[in-house]
Amino acid sequence: MIASSAFPVTKVERSKKNELPASNIPFGKYFTDYMLEADCENGVWKNIEIKPYQPLVLSPSLAAIHYGQSIFEGVKAYKHSDGEAYIFRPLDNFRRFNISARRMQMQPVPEEIFIEGMRQLIALDKDWIPNKPDHALYIRPFMFATDEMIGVKPSDTYKFMIILSPTGPYYAEPMRIHVEEEYTRAARGGVGFTKVAGNYATSLLPAAAARSKGYDQVLWTDEVEHKYAEEIGTMNVFFVIGDKVVTPDLSRGTILAGVTRNSAITLLRDMGVTVEEARVNLDDVAAAYKSGQLKEVFGTGTAATISEIKELQYKDTVMKFDPKTWKIAPSIKKRLDDIREGRTPDPYGWLLKV
Ligand code: COI
Repeated sequence: MIASSAFPVTKVERSKKNELPASNIPFGKYFTDYMLEADCENGVWKNIEIKPYQPLVLSPSLAAIHYGQSIFEGVKAYKHSDGEAYIFRPLDNFRRFNISARRMQMQPVPEEIFIEGMRQLIALDKDWIPNKPDHALYIRPFMFATDEMIGVKPSDTYKFMIILSPTGPYYAEPMRIHVEEEYTRAARGGVGFTKVAGNYATSLLPAAAARSKGYDQVLWTDEVEHKYAEEIGTMNVFFVIGDKVVTPDLSRGTILAGVTRNSAITLLRDMGVTVEEARVNLDDVAAAYKSGQLKEVFGTGTAATISEIKELQYKDTVMKFDPKTWKIAPSIKKRLDDIREGRTPDPYGWLLKV
């Protein structure tokens, strides 16, 4: 058991903060002064420390490189007008991280290291939290197998780390999405519900093909009929049909249980909107578009927050929207931003003060 005391810190000689652009900070390009590092050997956590952000020295036979035991999370922190930093729903990310760890036969990370380590790290880098609309401190916890051995077996050793990246919006503009009917992101019994690094690697080729046709991302479909919506490259997906909101349900284990997805469902229901979690047949979605019932399509994600879809192409149907006329997506984005950025009270207990 690790005592809930401060983890050892090696101080930086000089902050790099003056290298950060004053506005429009690109996603994932800048990293703060500090990082957290911890090692696990045969189930025992040790060497937990916060140190200057720096490269790692790794063996070429590192298990993670060869066999892919590598998982991550995405969390965000905000600075409120009281000058304090708040992390949005980190316990949900902590739980999901260990769900990914279990599926990938990796060691679970103790809450003490994940949450307390995150708080202590952010406290040191608090001045890096951007104070601008649509900006936040993106928190990237991750873990990878560190055994130095070429052999397909669960590693006996792991490294857990947290790095921090001040960032602007992941998608700055409403998106154009291509429904993917050839490639599959996940199948039942697979790892679609985890944040294993490889899930993102396999999305790159279909995303590049979609980009070559002028689309920003793909909407994944089921692995059998390619007609049920799953999730978009980096986000969960929602459809506003008539006066209801519909989003793919989690029961098949093929899509990520997004924290922002859950926040959006909670906010919508509290606003009196009916939300259905169900299998979403894209033939029905296209028919709803043709009859004028499909009002809005948007994505939700930690990095993406709430991202409006201005065009959705499914087979020979091109569904076009004018997000400026929408009501649902902008109102949950505003409600979510107001809570995260501290402009309204947080009735759900979603914020954890650093
Ligand atoms: C996130 O939304 O935090 C993600 O991890 C998605 C993406 C940046 C890969």
